[in-house]
Amino acid sequence: MRGVRFEEFGGPEVLRVVELDAPEPAAGEVTIDIAYVGVNFADLQARSTGYRVPGLPFVPGLELSGRIRALGSGVEGFTIGQPVAAITEGGAYAEVVRAKAATVFPIPDGIDLRTAATLPTVLPTAYALVNTVGRVRPGEIVLVQAAAGGVGTVAGQVAKLAGASAVYGVVSSTEKAEYARKRGYDDAFLSDTFDTDVLAATGGRGVDLVLDPVGGDTLRRSLDTLALFGRLVSFGNAGGEPAWQVGQPELYPRGRSISGFSILSLTATEPQVLREIAAHAFELVTSGKVELPITAEFPLAEAGDAHRLMGGRTSTGKLILAV
Ligand SMILES: NC(=O)c1ccc[n+]([C@@H]2O[C@H](COP(=O)([O-])OP(=O)(O)OC[C@H]3O[C@@H](n4cnc5c(N)ncnc54)[C@H](OP(=O)(O)O)[C@@H]3O)[C@@H](O)[C@H]2O)c1
Repeated sequence: MRGVRFEEFGGPEVLRVVELDAPEPAAGEVTIDIAYVGVNFADLQARSTGYRVPGLPFVPGLELSGRIRALGSGVEGFTIGQPVAAITEGGAYAEVVRAKAATVFPIPDGIDLRTAATLPTVLPTAYALVNTVGRVRPGEIVLVQAAAGGVGTVAGQVAKLAGASAVYGVVSSTEKAEYARKRGYDDAFLSDTFDTDVLAATGGRGVDLVLDPVGGDTLRRSLDTLALFGRLVSFGNAGGEPAWQVGQPELYPRGRSISGFSILSLTATEPQVLREIAAHAFELVTSGKVELPITAEFPLAEAGDAHRLMGGRTSTGKLILAV
């Protein structure tokens, strides 16, 4: 089978098309003939910094859609040829992938294979950030960093459905701000000035919840946009700054809290909880309440171009690879 892998860490040019043996399913696993792969920022971090890469060479790719190819021993509830979507621990930039049956999902009625490839990571992540970890209550105000990206595009919509009275986004360009406003954000601010803009938009009150995938200075500035007893959920480090640290001086005076979330850790440790969250999240798409536009599609062999687009900070919505 064809796959795209890297043998060293670096820029998009380290992604190479290679011929590989198709994997066989171990006990409790399935193999899937892949149709489409969702591109995640974590794929870029794997390629450039080794994020969650157990060893080289490595085939990236965390989410995909396709058809069940073979069942490992002990797997029940799936049939050969069944259309599915899945989260994996890598390996999806290929024609065939192995996945734990516990993190493979039948594709909901009315969803095609192309759309299904966009669902496994982004939707459950946004759902968990807003509802499970962020615990948005009706009437609260929410701020989402990287609002025009994959997670950001749906997080605003999910927050509105949870009853948020206003949802603001932060982005790096006026084009992205325009996109975010069309995707359910009440307003979108530029990264340089978001803290003063948010305080102005809320009459100095601040927001109840910030969702932050950027980290570093952005996270520290986001803390200062929180209202009394406000909460921040950290879920990424797209800015590439050293791991943040905060303590009593930042948290005590106004009763702030910080929590974290990782869908890949949840996938590895609590697949049943992931399935419950995913079921709620997928329902938001099948009912038409949440939309995640695919804004660019690349052939598998051109995965490097998808990485260039996302890494250059000009992409919006979701990028996919066609296998
Ligand atoms: N913890 C979890 O479970 C989980 C799950 C999925 C994704 N994530 C995280 O959520 C974030 C978004 O992921 P995604 O896959 O949906 O990607 P994406 O948002 O489509 O693309 C990457 C985003 O990062 C922002 N960004 C900020 N600083 C950047 C920098 N220095 N270089 C490049 N991009 C930068 C860009 O927005 P601007 O250009 O507007 O700043 C862009 O929206 C990532 O940090 C990812 O690791 C976490």
